[in-house]
This record gives sequence, structure tokens and C-alpha cells, in this order.
Amino acid sequence: MDSLYVNKAVAAVLTAGIAFFVTGLLGDELIRVEVPKKPAIVIASAEPAKAEGGAKKEGPDPIEPLLASADPEAGKAYTKTICVACHNFQEGGANGVGPDLYGVLGRKIASKPGFDYSSALKAKQGVWTYDELNEWLYKPAAFAPGTRMSFAGLPNDKTRANVIAYLRSLSHNPEPLPKPTDVPKQAAAAAPAGGEPAKPSFDAMLVSADPAAGKAYTKTICVACHTFDKGGKAGVGPNLWGVVGAPHGHMAGFDYSSALKSKQGPWTYDELNQWLTSPAKYAPGTRMSFAGIPSEKTRANVVAYLRTLSDNPEPLPKVEGATPAKAEAPVAAGGGAAAKGGDTPPPMTDKGGPASGTPEPASK
Ligand code: HEC
Ligand code: HEC
Repeated sequence: MDSLYVNKAVAAVLTAGIAFFVTGLLGDELIRVEVPKKPAIVIASAEPAKAEGGAKKEGPDPIEPLLASADPEAGKAYTKTICVACHNFQEGGANGVGPDLYGVLGRKIASKPGFDYSSALKAKQGVWTYDELNEWLYKPAAFAPGTRMSFAGLPNDKTRANVIAYLRSLSHNPEPLPKPTDVPKQAAAAAPAGGEPAKPSFDAMLVSADPAAGKAYTKTICVACHTFDKGGKAGVGPNLWGVVGAPHGHMAGFDYSSALKSKQGPWTYDELNQWLTSPAKYAPGTRMSFAGIPSEKTRANVVAYLRTLSDNPEPLPKVEGATPAKAEAPVAAGGGAAAKGGDTPPPMTDKGGPASGTPEPASK
């Protein structure tokens, strides 16, 4: 109790520099006030990367432009965190909850012998092309309503491209990659080879983030190791009540790695963002065996949820000129970062590391 209080006090002082107190808004009303107009389910399709702004189309962008630079190894690493719960990937591998996926690219849809497909998937004609895998993995339930694959989808374009590139490699004679000339210009522009399109800052995303969606996400992944309730016990990882603004290694009695213990100061939003992007990069040697959350939007939701785990939640970052409603506009991109010294989180990268997850399995 005492140390929690002290932590909060320390955090309050430190946070005062980067944000205004809006104490009037804090408390139970908070969620109601800040939950954006969209329902939690939008999380699967609400990647903010479309810098063009304006109209958001249904479904994923074309995958072809991304495939050329996709990283099958990162895709493989990702499948190991999520898909292996239900799928094998070896030649001749057994069907599990889902069918074996060796050679799935170019294979007739719903055709693995011995697997009992839903009629939703069986009703689909033709073979799995890049485009079809793209739509399927973006949101299985939208591609084949009624499917039995209980997996919410992979909203991150880059991760999806990596996974498809990996699926492509599962063959003696992989399909050719799509020709760059097939690539629609517009799509290529939206996905520059060298980097991510302009994005709103993390602060801006946090302001419009959805704590309820963040909570739902933590229930699919983080609860394997963490409790979130006040006074909750440690599991594989520490209890996370009050972690926002608390010092690194905040749970008394938990045996933290020296990697994490050596970090100074309180957990700021920005640091939580970096940590959840890639724990191993943020604190090399950490014991948190979790590859990270590649989707910045999901990270913002999770951090927004962590923030609510307090009797007196930290103020949200002040984003210049941004109201929750327009915080997603690319215009806000510069302002938020400036408010805390310009350190933007590392860009999402699926290269060079266990790319892992935007694991959003819809259910268990
Ligand atoms: C919770 C279990 C589960 C998870 C997690 C899961 N799948 Fe599936 N998958 C299934 C099931 C079940 C089916 C069959 C769906 C149907 O019949 O409607 C399926 C079907 C598929 C198919 C179509 C195969 C065919 O033979 O037509 C592909 C491709 C696929 N999954 C890829 C993936 C990838 C890639 C991932 C990880 C990003 C993944 N799945 C995660 C259960 C799962
Ligand atoms: C496989 C188990 C595991 C999973 C999954 C996991 N964590 Fe952790 N977490 C840990 C461990 C272990 C530590 C302590 C790390 C250390 O000491 O280096 C930790 C530490 C943390 C900390 C720092 C706590 C502190 O007191 O400084 C935060 C914040 C955190 N985890 C958040 C999350 C969130 C959010 C998720 C889900 C997206 C998650 N973790 C998933 C095991 C896990």
C-alpha cells in the first residue's frame, strides 16, 4: 500500500511534465468518456496506417506490394506464436484443430483430405491465391462467414505479408512471387519498401484508444502470465495493477530479471509502448517470453487498459490540437511526440526478430 502510494506520487510528479492533469475527468467515468465511437471489434481492421486519411475501405490492402519485401522467417516466427495452436506446417503433417498447411498456397480451398471443413469454407471456389490468403488472414470471419477458424485476424499488413511469404515457402516448388508490375500504383505508394507510412504518434493513439479492447486483448495473451486485479498474485509475471507510472519492477517480492531491474524511473506511456513492441529489445535479457505486439493500435489499447488499473489513473498524454475524435488524423503525428521530447517508439518491424504477435484469437 505504502509503496503504491509513493509510486503514484513519484509518477505524478514525473508525469506532470508531459501532460496536464485533467482530474475532473478521471475516475469511473473515464471509460465512458474516452471510449471512441467505434466498437471494440474494429480493432481487427482499424490499422491507422492509411495515411491518406478519409475513407476507409473494407478489407485489406492488396498484399502484392508487400510480398516482395516480406520476410518469411519473421512470418514463420509469428506462426509459431499463434497458428501452431491449431495448425501443422510440415509436409504430411497431421490435421489439428485446423488443417495441415504445407503447400496451402495454390491448393484448392478446403481440400486437405481428412479434415472436416465448415461449409462456409467448403463453399469457396478455386485455390488459395495470394489475394485470397490476404483476405482470409486479414479477417477469417469476413472472408468466410461461419468459418470454424476462431482467429480474429491479422490486421497488420506487414505481418500478414510475412506470414503469407512463409506459407509460400512451404512447398518443393514455391509459386512465383507476384510481379511488381501487377502492383497497383496507389497500393505501392501506401506501402513504401523502406518504412512505414506516416502514422499518428503513440500519444495521439493513446488518447483515442479503447481500454475495453485492450482488456479483451490481455485476456487472450497476457493472462497466461499476469494478473491485473488489485492485490493480485504474481504468476509467471508480476501483477500489473498500478504499473503505469510505477517504477520498473514495481511489484514487491517479484523476482525480476536484472535486465528489468536495471531500468530507471517509472513506466511512462512511451516506455510501455517500447516494451510491448519488443520486450527483448527494450530490456535484453528480460524474462518476459513474449515476442511483442506489432500493431501499434493494439499496443495503445493495451496501455490504455493498463492505465485504468489504478485508483487514480495517470492523466492521458496531452496531444496538441487533438481531441479524442480527431486524434487519428495524420495531422496529429508531430504534436504528440513533441510533448514528451520527441522520442517516438521504434517503428513496428517484423524483421530481425521473433515477429510474433498481433495475436487476436477470437476465442479459445
Ligand atoms: C483457434 C484455432 C486456429 C488458429 C489460432 C488458426 N487457425 Fe487457421 N484454421 C483453423 C480451422 C478450424 C480451419 C478450418 C476452417 C473452416 O473449415 O472453416 C482453418 C483454416 C485455415 C486455412 C485454410 C486451409 C485450407 O486447407 O483451406 C489457412 C490458410 C489457415 N487456417 C491459416 C492460418 C494461419 C496462418 C494462422 C495464424 C495466423 C491460423 N490459421 C490460426 C483453426 C485455426
Ligand atoms: C510468457 C509469460 C508472459 C506473457 C505472455 C506476458 N508477460 Fe509481461 N512479464 C512476464 C515476466 C516474467 C515479467 C518480468 C520480466 C523481467 O523481470 O524481466 C513481465 C513483466 C511485465 C511488465 C513490467 C512489470 C513491472 O513490474 O515492471 C509489464 C508492464 C508487462 N509484463 C506487461 C505485459 C502485457 C501487457 C502482456 C500481454 C500483451 C504481457 N506482459 C505478456 C511474463 C509475461
